Amino acid sequence: MINTHLTSVAPPPLPPRQHQSVAPVMVPYDLLPKPHSRGLIRFMFTVVLLNLLLSMFGFFYLYKNGTTQRKQDMKSSFSHAEPSMQKQHSHHVEKRESHTVFARMTVLQPTTPPKPHPGHLKWDMRHSQYSRPHINYYNSSWLTIEKPGYYFVYSRVTFSSGHSTIPLTNRVDWRKTQTGEPKPIMQAFCHTISTLCTASAEDVVQLETGNQLSVWTEDLSLISYEETGTTLGLFSL
Ligand SMILES: *[C@@H]1O[C@H](CO)[C@@H](O)[C@H](O)[C@H]1NC(C)=O
Repeated sequence: MINTHLTSVAPPPLPPRQHQSVAPVMVPYDLLPKPHSRGLIRFMFTVVLLNLLLSMFGFFYLYKNGTTQRKQDMKSSFSHAEPSMQKQHSHHVEKRESHTVFARMTVLQPTTPPKPHPGHLKWDMRHSQYSRPHINYYNSSWLTIEKPGYYFVYSRVTFSSGHSTIPLTNRVDWRKTQTGEPKPIMQAFCHTISTLCTASAEDVVQLETGNQLSVWTEDLSLISYEETGTTLGLFSL
């Protein structure tokens, strides 16, 4: 031991004690006044509750606003969409209607061998197709146009035998009405024949309501009545 009263030597610093290192931390907690801490907790709780209420209110406000906006958007988009949809629809229908005006006639296979004479081809109604009521069928050989407009008309006549003097003719006849005089509007010929020969004719024709079309040939006995080789067809443009 060093006698501090008798020597001028400064006393050595006190070694740190275990309880001293803990005490300074513990002190502020002990020093906190209890009523004050309760008030703080109450205050914090109020702040949290207020925050919660505000965010709930905000959320509700945004949600309500959003739905109203969406409803308005939907309403306006519907009011915008409706006419365009109708327009699209009507356009679609019109387009489809104009495209359904067509005819594809199949030649009627004769039950007895046809006599060698000129005439209009007869159509097989079981295998022919045409868009009624825009196109009608008249007296075995004619097609009546009920919807005026421009039509692409095609005709194909296949011959299975030739002739020494007459040309193998595919002629499309037009007449103004069912009592009118037929006028040729298209002609196609076959010049040489070995086994089969097809004369094809096609054109764009302006047709009025009541106009009729048919296919005429010089000799009905020279035709191949095989259904895909001889036909008359049309469709509106
Ligand atoms: C139908 O066509 C034939 C010729 O194939 C003709 O003799 C007859 O008069 C026509 N009938 C009518 C009602 O036009």
